[in-house]
Amino acid sequence: MLNLKPDADEALKIAALSHDIDRAITKILEKDLNDYSKINEFKKEHSIRSAQFICNILKKHNYSQSIIDKVKHLVENHEFGGDLESDILMDADSLAYFEYNIPSYLKICGREKTKEKIKFMYKRLSAKTKELVNQIKFKDKEIAELVKESISEL
Ligand SMILES: [Fe+2]
Repeated sequence: MLNLKPDADEALKIAALSHDIDRAITKILEKDLNDYSKINEFKKEHSIRSAQFICNILKKHNYSQSIIDKVKHLVENHEFGGDLESDILMDADSLAYFEYNIPSYLKICGREKTKEKIKFMYKRLSAKTKELVNQIKFKDKEIAELVKESISEL
């Protein structure tokens, strides 16, 4: 997040840290989704659950209603964007996936689901962040080829 928007405010930073909190609490994971055509509904429900969890935590710690409302909006929209800051959060999420998460996702979900995930994450990137992803030098040859192959199929 701070690479893409160094002046991100508190709500945006909280949203960047907490947008996937649902996974840690409910243990509902994408690997359990058998029909990938249902990914958008799955992601929407995940976003709403994450927003509820983080907003309850913020309320408990007496954050202002304006910060709570902004975090709620950002987390609810982190998968599909729709406004400037939600789009930046979505870009940061995708960029982090490419930089750090592909090896563990591949291990847990297998090749085909990883290809679908790479395509989902790449398609939703802004042109500027696509350039950053295109410059990543993957150390693992299998990952590098998987990313290249997935993007070429878009
Ligand atoms: Fe998410």
